[in-house]
Order: sequence, then C-alpha cells, then structure tokens
Amino acid sequence: MKQQVDLLVHDIGQLCTMPAQDGGPQRGNRLGELGLIEDAAIAIDQGTIVAIGTRDELCDQYDGATTLDAQGKLVTPGLVDPHTHLIWAGDRADEFERRIAGATYQEIMAEGGGIVRTVEATRAADLATLVEQSKARLVTMLAHGTTTVEIKTGYGLTTESEIAMLNAAALLDSEHPVDVALTFLGAHAIPREYADNPDGYVDLVVDEMLPAVAEWRGEHWPGTLFCDVFCETGAFDLAQTRRILEAAREHGMALKVHVDEFESLGGARLAAELGAVSVDHIVATPDEDIEAVAASNTVAVALPPTPFGLGHTRFPNARRWLDAGAALAIATDCNPGTAWNENMQLVMALATRYMRLSPAEALAAATINAAFAIGRGNEVGSLEVGKAGDLVVWDVPSYPHLSYRFGRNLATVVVKRGQIAYHSWWAGLPL
Ligand code: NIG
Ligand code: FE
Repeated sequence: MKQQVDLLVHDIGQLCTMPAQDGGPQRGNRLGELGLIEDAAIAIDQGTIVAIGTRDELCDQYDGATTLDAQGKLVTPGLVDPHTHLIWAGDRADEFERRIAGATYQEIMAEGGGIVRTVEATRAADLATLVEQSKARLVTMLAHGTTTVEIKTGYGLTTESEIAMLNAAALLDSEHPVDVALTFLGAHAIPREYADNPDGYVDLVVDEMLPAVAEWRGEHWPGTLFCDVFCETGAFDLAQTRRILEAAREHGMALKVHVDEFESLGGARLAAELGAVSVDHIVATPDEDIEAVAASNTVAVALPPTPFGLGHTRFPNARRWLDAGAALAIATDCNPGTAWNENMQLVMALATRYMRLSPAEALAAATINAAFAIGRGNEVGSLEVGKAGDLVVWDVPSYPHLSYRFGRNLATVVVKRGQIAYHSWWAGLPL
C-alpha cells in the first residue's frame, strides 16, 4: 500500500536540494554545493518534506492527494530574500531622473531628499494603504519564486509610525503565503525634525522606540525580531551604531547591520564583535573587517541590485569574502530609493556577472545561505526531509539557466509549505 501525502512532485529533470553544511551555511569556497538529483521526485505532507529521491523510488512508495508533473524541468528550494525594505508608500522616480542626469545619492540625501521623502509619504499613508501597496510587491516576489522574505521598518522614524510599519509587516505575514522575517530599522535615517540634533534622535531610538518595540513584540511577534542600523556617513556613525545595537541586544533582539554601502566606518567589524546574524551591503569593506566577519558566525549579505540601481560599477568583492571563508548570501534590498526590484532571479543574474559568483554559488547564496542570514537555516532554504515544503518549478532544464537568462520570469510553479501558491498557466503544466 502506498503512503498518502498532500503533494507529490515527480518527473523533476534536475532537483537542486542546496544542502546545509555541518548544520550551517555553505562557507567560503564550499559555496555552491547543489545536492543534485536527476530524474527526481519529492513528497510533502502537512507542509513538510517527507521524502526526496529518484522518481522511481518515490512513485512506488507515495500517492499524492495532489500530484505535479514537472515535465523534466528544474526544481530548487523556494528562494529566500534576506534583505528588503518592502513596506513604503509612494515613489522617488524624480530622484532617479536626477541621478541619471548626474546627481549622487548622497548629494540628494544631503539636500533633504532620499529616505526622508519616503518617510513623509509613509507617515501620511494609513495602514490599509500601506499594506495594499506593499502587498502588491510581495505578490510579485512570490510569483518570481521567493517564498521567505525579510522586511524592515525604517520609513516611519517616530515611535508611532515605526510600530505602524511593524503592524503592516505582521499583517502581510498573516494574510499572505510568503513567510516574513521582521526587522526594526528605526535607525535608517536622521528624520528632518532631528536634522540639527542627531544624537537626540539616537536617544529617542534607545530610550523610547526600542522599549516600545520590545513591548510590541511581546504581544504580536513571538519569533525572532531583528534590529538593524544604517551605519554610514550621513546616517549613523560607529559610536551611535554601537549604542543602538547594544541596547537592542539587551531587549533580546537579534542584530543586522547596513555597512560599507559607500564607505567603511568599521561597521562590519563591530557587527562581528556583537554577534550580528548578518552584515549587509559590504561594498567598501576593508580586508581586516572581511577577516573579522569570516571568523564569526555573521553572514555577509551582498545586494547587487543596489550598485546596479545607482548606476555604479563597484560591487562587493565576492571572491575576497569567499577566500576568507565567509558565508555569503544575496538579496534584493527592494526599496524605493536605490533598488526597486522584487526579483531574486535578477539578483542571481547580477551576482554572477558583477561579483563573479558561479551560477551554483549564486543559487546557494539565494537559498540556504540567505536562510541562515535571517536565522531560519534550519527551517527553509534547502530541500531536506523535515524542512518546509517550499519549492519552485522553473521553466528551464538546468540550474545555470537561472542566472544565464534574465529579463523574464522563469518561475512556473511556486509551492509554499506544500500548497501551490503561484502557477503560470501559460506554461501548460497539468495539475
Ligand atoms: O539599503 N541604505 C539604506 N537603505 C536603503 C536605501 C533606502 C532608500 O533610499 O529609500 C538601502 O540601499
Ligand atoms: Fe537596505
């Protein structure tokens, strides 16, 4: 008698399982282990993977309430996007026009534009509007193969509006199949009302926002809550960053840090010292900071859509990070200023060309390592028995196509916890 399961996916041409290594991320030059099975099948029950093997093994053993014939296509874990600013209102298309004409991101920020303009629009939006505009982006992410996403606050910058952003993120998590990892980024920019008193704003973050956020968490968010700081000239300096992160840690929050997007203030080394889960952007990181992160458990997250979105030619030096032994992940940084992009496929396309990752390395950086960058490496990011049944059937025969091709959505079916959450009917897969 065959065992009954909720979903059986069979006739998978190439299955990339993207395994964890020693219970952790794929480190250094061991990045890119595919865990490849040809002519494969996978069985999922109650949202969890119960078996993975060859088509013949599994089809003899299991019967699916739903069966999905992958018709020889590629299947990978659902992609994990470990760094986004998904929730905002409005847009900054006018700033893009100015940048393309020659103004820099920092010049626009120094003139009172940039993040604080999105803050204005976000504060003015009610919760329903904020959720509606952000949900459209989340739906797009899912359709492009992302099944877990990190979301940051940081366009409120008052206690009340930062909490409103947390509420919006919690609503998206509960109303939409994509799972959300949540980050408080009250220290994203110095708001206009504190332009002459940046330390006064740091006081507000430490003395008022962090306690309020910790209280909100107690009522609304049982899982991990991260605290992030934008450590950069024009945002928060190293001493301010340390003060906020240490206070957050006392409130039981896990840490992430935006560092070295334009220049290094020593934030990457600080993140490693404080045991941050990830350190993100890492374009201008000096060698000694790379060594410090590589010697820690902190995951390095590169965001190639950001320099691309800014029209820059300098990208993180991935080979340097990998030679040092770091765990490297990639993400969209989806935000209205530098990188309005929901698509992790484009991130892989950019990471291969401009960071010189191999297609296998880019896929590992977008799956298992991205999961470890949000502390969820034991739940998602790889196809292993006992982990979440999150996978993508791609309209391609093999994994290199995922970064080789770009510009159209290659995802055909997206499965989240064993449920078909997206299906492009034109691809003609029979259900
Ligand atoms: O990660 N660096 C800080 N935050 C974003 C930009 C946000 C914005 O410009 O609205 C980033 O690039
Ligand atoms: Fe960011």
